[in-house]
Amino acid sequence: MTVQETTLVPGLAGIPAAESAVSYIDGQVGILEYRGHRIETLAEHSNFEETCWLLLYGSLPSKSELDGFRARLREHRDLPERLINVIRALPGVGHPMDALQASLAALGMFHRKEDYSSREECDEAIVRIIAAVPVMIANFENFRAGRDYVQPDPKLDTAANFLWMINGTVADELITRVLDVALILHADHTMNASTFAARVVASTEADPFTVCSSAVGALTGPLHGGANERVLDQLKAIGAAENVPAWLDATLAAKSKIMGFGHRVYTTKDPRATILQDLARDLFETHGMTPAYETALALEAEVLQRLGSKGIYPNVDYFSGMVYAKLGIPTDLFTPVFAMSRVAGYLAHWREQMTDNRIFRPTQVFVGSHDAAYTPLELR
Ligand code: SDX
Repeated sequence: MTVQETTLVPGLAGIPAAESAVSYIDGQVGILEYRGHRIETLAEHSNFEETCWLLLYGSLPSKSELDGFRARLREHRDLPERLINVIRALPGVGHPMDALQASLAALGMFHRKEDYSSREECDEAIVRIIAAVPVMIANFENFRAGRDYVQPDPKLDTAANFLWMINGTVADELITRVLDVALILHADHTMNASTFAARVVASTEADPFTVCSSAVGALTGPLHGGANERVLDQLKAIGAAENVPAWLDATLAAKSKIMGFGHRVYTTKDPRATILQDLARDLFETHGMTPAYETALALEAEVLQRLGSKGIYPNVDYFSGMVYAKLGIPTDLFTPVFAMSRVAGYLAHWREQMTDNRIFRPTQVFVGSHDAAYTPLELR
């Protein structure tokens, strides 16, 4: 195929980049499956560690497999002293996603291997990354708040341990379960922008630490993972439910995007948004209403009325911020929490890419000029 025969598809919309069995979306019906399991089933019956195993290794773990995986995750949470010093030295005014991207690359400097052809080396890197990410995020938060390094608690699973490290207390069962389910919901989502970035970097045979650090960079953007942080700001700017129509008039007139709405694949409500909305409601009933929730419901109704026919519905980021805020997570840690979960998906795609790899090297539609004359500087 010559270059001139190719036509550009903006954003590669609908263009397959790989064959994958990790997750599946039906955007019309609103279905998300991890290795064939509906997300609603996993949210109700599974936990983050079990879901990580399912995504990575293709089937639900046996009890001994899950116990062993949990134990290895807890063993690999402790960070090298020099890495703790690197995180401590990062500017507290910087964004936690930048701290995470830097910390992941630095973690690889301690543990990168030359060869990941063996299952043992792959599994070791996978456990190190999934275990270390929450600890790096939480302790960047502690350092910028003027607190000391907090050791992870080996008695606690990922969600409970993260809340312990940032809040200094062991959260109650509902609070812990809500975060655990949120981590399940965010773990994978077919060929989204940051997973595609992970695949591209993986295809060069870069190491898994670099793959995840690169993908975290892509996740940072406000059109992608960065939206959850902006949804709360958006709701605060609206202020109250009665202000929604005027705010929406102005936003649409300015051709601005409404954060937490729309999706490249879903043309109906993101099933994760529905589950997070239910979690939010349960949380608010037991731990007190969040004022933004009423505004969020009013905004959702108004957007559906005006843009539902265009397939613009709430996505995963719409309710997640309210939930995280209620769990005591600072707003600019919302996207790092997304990343804490999604690294499991990045690593599942890394493993899959390595089974039948060919380096990504797409083409382009050239729109420039040829045979340009070189004008000497003195004549320009
Ligand atoms: C995530 O891909 C994934 O799977 C991502 C994710 C995952 O789990 O990995 O699901 C996580 O990133 C969720 C999305 C979070 N981002 C946001 O909430 C930011 C706001 N959303 C939009 O920027 C947008 O909807 C995208 C980026 C999510 C999707 O963009 P597309 O598919 O490129 O759609 P588009 O920008 O071309 O919009 C198509 C039309 C346009 O109108 P027209 O020019 O055709 O008249 O829909 C409109 C857009 O203006 N539109 C919106 C809108 N989203 C689309 N209008 C207002 N507000 C929006 N949010």
